[in-house]
Amino acid sequence: MFQTIEFKTPSVVFGMDTVLRIGKEAKRLGGHRALIVTGPRVKAAGVLEKALSGLKAESLEVDVIVEERDTPEPATSVVEEVADFARQGCFDMIVGIGGGSILDVAKMASALLTNPGKTKDYFGKEKVPLRGKPTIIVPTTSGTGAEVTKHAIFLDREANVKKAVASTNLLPDVAIVDPLLTLTCPPRVTAAAGIDAFFHAVEPFLSRMANPITDALALKAISLITRWLGPAVADGENLDARYHMALGSVTAGFVLNNSGTSLVHAMAYPVGGEYHTPHGITLTVLALSCFDALRSAKQERLVQIADAMGEPVDGLPSREAADLALVAMRHLMKSVDLPVCLEEAGITDRSRIQAWAVEAHKEQRLLSRSARILSVEDIAKIYTKAFTDWGQDR
Ligand SMILES: [Fe+2]
Repeated sequence: MFQTIEFKTPSVVFGMDTVLRIGKEAKRLGGHRALIVTGPRVKAAGVLEKALSGLKAESLEVDVIVEERDTPEPATSVVEEVADFARQGCFDMIVGIGGGSILDVAKMASALLTNPGKTKDYFGKEKVPLRGKPTIIVPTTSGTGAEVTKHAIFLDREANVKKAVASTNLLPDVAIVDPLLTLTCPPRVTAAAGIDAFFHAVEPFLSRMANPITDALALKAISLITRWLGPAVADGENLDARYHMALGSVTAGFVLNNSGTSLVHAMAYPVGGEYHTPHGITLTVLALSCFDALRSAKQERLVQIADAMGEPVDGLPSREAADLALVAMRHLMKSVDLPVCLEEAGITDRSRIQAWAVEAHKEQRLLSRSARILSVEDIAKIYTKAFTDWGQDR
């Protein structure tokens, strides 16, 4: 089969202390007045100082807006606040420094500087008509891939559901991925963000949107994250672990941006919107039952995943080898204390299954990529199985 492949990415600078190059990148993009959007933890960790000194060394005028938030996903009102501040201050560049939520706010605020209306007008696929002001995106966690993606996720407070803006015009201009900025990321955030990156590689690899370029990147990211997530959670100052997790995360981000997530992320939206569980944890509690449901369609690919995770697949019947992928994923999640089913995350109300299934089924942007076509009833069955641990008898 001859595929037509489009591969999109911002310009990426990866490596230790690359944040110091932020001023040069800002100048290259023609920036004069930069607004840094960041969170309180980043300010406290001293990361901000490095970025400020880099920008000031190139004579940029800089101001900083520190965003607090009360849910894992930011409300859209935060984006509008930042955009208003940037408009009033005549900033010509937005710099996002932080975890995925802050980065999403920075990306969307930049878009609102050149596009009319509010964030909610742009929920869905390719609704943002114009590129925003230039953006430099600097992650301080290894996981979301937001630095190299066209997506921004927000909580729609009216519907209490997470919603996505997915537009090519949201793609940042420059991503600076400096593993040293992740050293102070706490263990629980390291685990939840790192496993999110893992699924950004696994889900597209198992979907209809897979292509040879994203497949190669996905298998590399799966290997890196399997090998280095545990050490990064165990000792946040392990430089090898932080370096390789940052590499795995941005590599998975390329896969996410070009082949997209599917079933697990679609099913996570209603649960995350209702319980405000961290994104990575909403994924871990659903992933095994989702991948089990895809086994009939993608058994050979599960074998490749098991192999990339270091499992001994040679000589095994594919059914058994595919099983090893799920066993290895469960082990990876358990090894960093992440819950592997809804009950383990304290979610026990089964009366919500039907409502979640209806909501998840509406996420056709994601579900249309699924290797298996799923009805509302199929999705309800997957939720039901996700309440209990898939691997408890194994
Ligand atoms: Fe994700």
